[in-house]
Amino acid sequence: MNLKATGSSLRLVLVCICLWSAVLYAALASAPQADIDARVEALLARMTLEEKLGQLQQLDGEANGNYRPEHVDLVRRGLLGSTLNVRGASKTNELQRIAVEQSRLKIPLIFGFDVIHGYRTIFPVPLAEAASWDPALVERAAAVAAAESYAAGVRWAFAPMVDIARDPRWGRIVEGAGEDPYLGALMARARVRGFQGDDYSAPGKVVACVKHWVAYGAAEGGRDYNTTDMSENRLREIYLPPFKAAIDAGVGTFMSAFNDLNGIPASANPFTLTKILRGEWKFTGFVVSDYESVRELINHGIAGNESEAARAALTAGVDMEMVSRLYAKHAAALIREGKLTQATIDEAVRRILRVKFRLGLFDHPYADEAREQTTMLSASNVQTARDVASHSIVLLKNERNTLPLQKDVRSIALIGPLADDQENMIGSWSGDGRREDAVTLLAGIRAKVPPAARINYAKGCTVSAAGDETNAEALLNEAVRAARDSDVVILAVGESADMSGEAASRASLDLPGRQLELAKAVAAAGKPFVVVLMNGRPLTINWIADNAPAILETWFGGTQAGNAIADVLFGDVNPGGKLPVTFPRHVGQIPIYYGHKNTGRPPDPKNKYTSKYLDAPVTPLFPFGYGLSYTTFRLTNLTLSALSIKPDGRLTVTADLENIGARPGDEVVQLYIRDVVASVTRPLKELKGFERITLRSGEKRSVQFTLSSEHLGFYDRAMRFVVEPGEFQVFVGQNSAEGLQASFQIVK
Ligand code: BGC
Repeated sequence: MNLKATGSSLRLVLVCICLWSAVLYAALASAPQADIDARVEALLARMTLEEKLGQLQQLDGEANGNYRPEHVDLVRRGLLGSTLNVRGASKTNELQRIAVEQSRLKIPLIFGFDVIHGYRTIFPVPLAEAASWDPALVERAAAVAAAESYAAGVRWAFAPMVDIARDPRWGRIVEGAGEDPYLGALMARARVRGFQGDDYSAPGKVVACVKHWVAYGAAEGGRDYNTTDMSENRLREIYLPPFKAAIDAGVGTFMSAFNDLNGIPASANPFTLTKILRGEWKFTGFVVSDYESVRELINHGIAGNESEAARAALTAGVDMEMVSRLYAKHAAALIREGKLTQATIDEAVRRILRVKFRLGLFDHPYADEAREQTTMLSASNVQTARDVASHSIVLLKNERNTLPLQKDVRSIALIGPLADDQENMIGSWSGDGRREDAVTLLAGIRAKVPPAARINYAKGCTVSAAGDETNAEALLNEAVRAARDSDVVILAVGESADMSGEAASRASLDLPGRQLELAKAVAAAGKPFVVVLMNGRPLTINWIADNAPAILETWFGGTQAGNAIADVLFGDVNPGGKLPVTFPRHVGQIPIYYGHKNTGRPPDPKNKYTSKYLDAPVTPLFPFGYGLSYTTFRLTNLTLSALSIKPDGRLTVTADLENIGARPGDEVVQLYIRDVVASVTRPLKELKGFERITLRSGEKRSVQFTLSSEHLGFYDRAMRFVVEPGEFQVFVGQNSAEGLQASFQIVK
């Protein structure tokens, strides 16, 4: 055999293949709508291993939105595929130009950013948005966020965060939609649709990143980043549905979480990353790790060193590595040693390139610098933010119609550390939001009442105990004086924005600092008073619930918080939000959520040996789904379309809703079911439908829901999704704790 001849013909073949793929790539790249998979393959065929690993790398820019000078050379050499936090049309264009004009293969960068509740126009925190129970409105909010991100060159939003959270100690409860998988799934879908629309390559759209995959919200003790451990039933029924809804809405990317789940870190978990995500759900986008979560596999103790960590994450299905650089450092050696296949790398690159092509980045890599400024904070964006904020407010108490307040009031005491605070209004993940854009409650009230009305503002105390305590008595006295001097008192208390969000778990859910003392002192002044809560999680506010005549839960309302709260306080908007999460009476009740099981010994006050506490009730302070209105609604006439259906049948549930009060208003009608006897214990109630309805005074409307197998089934002992014959109860109500009831049978 002539080895020399074989060698030269081999070289010839290789040269031909390279030339052919270059020609093919050039042809495909110039045909924008050409088949994406073919374009990906053609490009992949031209990439060196180094360039491939570059596509798997994401690095952090500077907090102010600039790119890091040391990343420029990596981009030029094709060794960096993505950044996070780099933003602004001119900054992203500068770096993009280097990728697209100076790198060998001209692969555009994808710029990611945490657009959690708005980019520049900041919306209420996601937990608040969920309290609107209005997916269409939440979709509009995400669409505004997408348009502003797009204008700033950010084509990839690290949102929605869809982690179910049943432990309000966990600070990141603020970023999600609360405790319920059904509400969570609808909010997930709305946000993905808002960001991406039908086609995320469209102008003004961005690709979404659903996170954190998965079960991050079940952190033990509510301590951030902590271990989670749960049955597969619970994982599938409670924690997965919002992710599945995101998939069904076409979400382009996933982010793998920090936590370990049943002993396997989420960023190296083949069961969740490959079996469920790729196998069962057929996901074709890519997975990015969380911030250094690949390196953290060493801390988790499932990787002994960096190389093992890289291998574990890559083989499990984490395609892009955020910030740590273990893939770039170790993948080549792992391949040489036979510990990693080239095919694994190629597949990860393929998934990332596919999203870059789908986004249209190859065809339109740059942001339009001329349009950036006019998009930000446009009048219509700001109006949407105000609408979303007022629709997210929940009226928790309103004794003797304390609210709404009269606009022609002579004097108002506006008291509290959050009453005139711009910084905290915009919440914990405020994108590119600026405090100076935010409307405080004081500004909102000033704009609402006639100039003649006197507003006696007093801070009263700081939010946290760590504040300036030297003049604590003086601050308190000033507040009491303001209360005495006024006809009515508005007291704005709660948390600072940084008390929720990432790495912001709290062991106590009481009002921090001296705020309760302030509330008591103000109450003692004897004037009618309204508590305006601003916070990122449920708080234990028993004293306030017992003593304040009126309470508004306003969360962190975003750029337009002050105007939106004033709209509600003075009755221009009738509050219709509902709690997306249970408010406990005591931290010791946690986890507390409406969809719990019955147990073998359900609580019975007359029997000690039942499931309860010696020193606290088992009931929450405010249940899931709870919220009042300035008008009164009556639900009647619950009717089922059949008394029995087959497992694959459908059942229609109707009820009449009537506004029997004097004002127009919104009610959220909620449908819950209970599967009474099943082969696996079932929750006492499960939300399966809701609708936010606006009715004029005296108006009546019939509300209709349809139940089918997707609502009636569950995961059995063999992890099959089944609908079992037997009795089902149906509840239609205004919150999770009360309502009309009926029942039907599922028959074989
Ligand atoms: C958070 C993610 C976020 C990422 C990038 C992480 O610390 O867990 O939610 O998207 O940082 O900022």
